[in-house]
Amino acid sequence: MRIYRDLVKWYPLITRASDYLEEAAHLLRLIEAASDGPAETLLELGSGAGHMASHLKTRLRCVLTDLSPQMLDVSRALNPECEHLQGDMRTLDLKRVFDIVLAHDAIGYMTCERDLQSAMETASAHLRTGGIAIFIPDNVRETFEGTCQCGGYDAPDGRELRYLEWAYDPDEADTAITVEFALMIREPGNAVRVEHDTHITGLFDRPTWRRLLMNAGLEPADVAVHDPHAGEHEVFVARRI
Ligand SMILES: C[S@@+](CC[C@H](N)C(=O)[O-])C[C@H]1O[C@@H](n2cnc3c(N)ncnc32)[C@H](O)[C@@H]1O
Repeated sequence: MRIYRDLVKWYPLITRASDYLEEAAHLLRLIEAASDGPAETLLELGSGAGHMASHLKTRLRCVLTDLSPQMLDVSRALNPECEHLQGDMRTLDLKRVFDIVLAHDAIGYMTCERDLQSAMETASAHLRTGGIAIFIPDNVRETFEGTCQCGGYDAPDGRELRYLEWAYDPDEADTAITVEFALMIREPGNAVRVEHDTHITGLFDRPTWRRLLMNAGLEPADVAVHDPHAGEHEVFVARRI
């Protein structure tokens, strides 16, 4: 996935920390409502550029983990006060427990049941009893329709980026979809160039999510908190048994 590696310097022009402000406020309300004990420490799996964490860290002590060293560097610049560690969410083993484990959009990179199960087991192993796991995949099978969206920002140094993101399901029989990114990039004094990046992400139905959560020792919890982005993504909340 090039935007997390050789194209990483362009990532902050695809999305910004401020894009996550409202969602982070919702997450904090959700954590408050779901917690039955202290809610002070959070482990994020696939924390990326640390955009979500940049808002959560005002209330929680955050440990941020990601597969990509380049993305961890972007996050370190934004969140120097947070601990950053490289690790794969399927195998991470910090031998520490937290009050909350979060896997936001990064959970989408689990493309088969075995990988999704492993990520949930990682979350479970890093939670205290009664701790809260939160998974926020971009899509679930029941509501996925295919999308096309565009965006992008300008940097203070004169660089500009606009992108198109196209998600489609080439094979409804499997648990993966394809997300194509076309990035139009302009550096001062140069002509626009176009870079292409293809991501394969997971698509599971809700019963599968709930079954795998239970297998991992995580009991799905219904938490009634208004979600301003309801319908745009799914939020799975579960408590460590
Ligand atoms: C869209 S970014 C996450 C952005 C993040 N929500 C934020 O607030 O900035 C997705 C991240 O998932 C990470 N990722 C993908 N597969 C992973 C895995 N198996 N383990 C850990 N991180 C992974 C990528 O390296 C990338 O940084």
